[in-house]
Amino acid sequence: MACFITFEGVEGSGKTTQIGMAADHLRQCGLPCLVTEEPGGTPLGRRIRDILLNRHSFAITALSELLLFQASRCQHVETVIRPALESGSIVLCDRFTDATLAYQGFGRGISMERIHRLNEIATASLKPDKTFLFDVPVELGLSRASHRMDMQRDLPREDRFEKEALAFHQQVREGYLFLAEKEPDRFIVLDGTREIGDLQQEIRHRLNSWIGG
Ligand SMILES: Nc1ncnc2c1ncn2[C@@H]1O[C@H](COP(=O)(O)OP(=O)(O)O)[C@@H](O)[C@H]1O
Ligand SMILES: [Mg+2]
Repeated sequence: MACFITFEGVEGSGKTTQIGMAADHLRQCGLPCLVTEEPGGTPLGRRIRDILLNRHSFAITALSELLLFQASRCQHVETVIRPALESGSIVLCDRFTDATLAYQGFGRGISMERIHRLNEIATASLKPDKTFLFDVPVELGLSRASHRMDMQRDLPREDRFEKEALAFHQQVREGYLFLAEKEPDRFIVLDGTREIGDLQQEIRHRLNSWIGG
């Protein structure tokens, strides 16, 4: 059964850890499953990801940043997500439209209305069926993310957002919680400070109830 599920939360909240484990579970149940991420998910998206997540010698304006995220998303939806859903796959996506509302809206202060409009255009109105939101205190998330990057020295240090002030991350966290409150049927808010295995158990339980795995 095609189903589009997104994983959201601040840096270091546990999205990537949990999405991989969730995919393993679905595959073990014999269900076709695609794991993908934003920004990225396509060759074009990965080029844009490098611009957005790595630090450069030039500044990027808030609106340019928003449009780059949306260009990556448009390519991703058209060439990867929609075809996978149409072929009956379950799609698990690490960040999607809510991240743009949280970061560029609540974080950078771009109007929600403007972001909604661009989200609609970039996705041709595709919406996640369900969204896991990992909620953690931002200090904890940032320290986990920084530790992870120290451990993965061979990978590019994607820390352009990590370098933002604590207040920025706090606005993002509150923004996510606000979005979740507005759509309680779509969002599952999980306390990301819980144990990895304990969180995964709850995620599997939810997936089984939606998909019948
Ligand atoms: N529930 C958890 N408890 C403790 N550490 C965690 C938990 N979830 C993830 N981590 C660790 O925190 C770091 C960041 O997790 P990650 O899944 O990469 O977060 P995100 O993708 O949300 O930035 C990783 O080193 C990971 O092993
Ligand atoms: Mg991640």
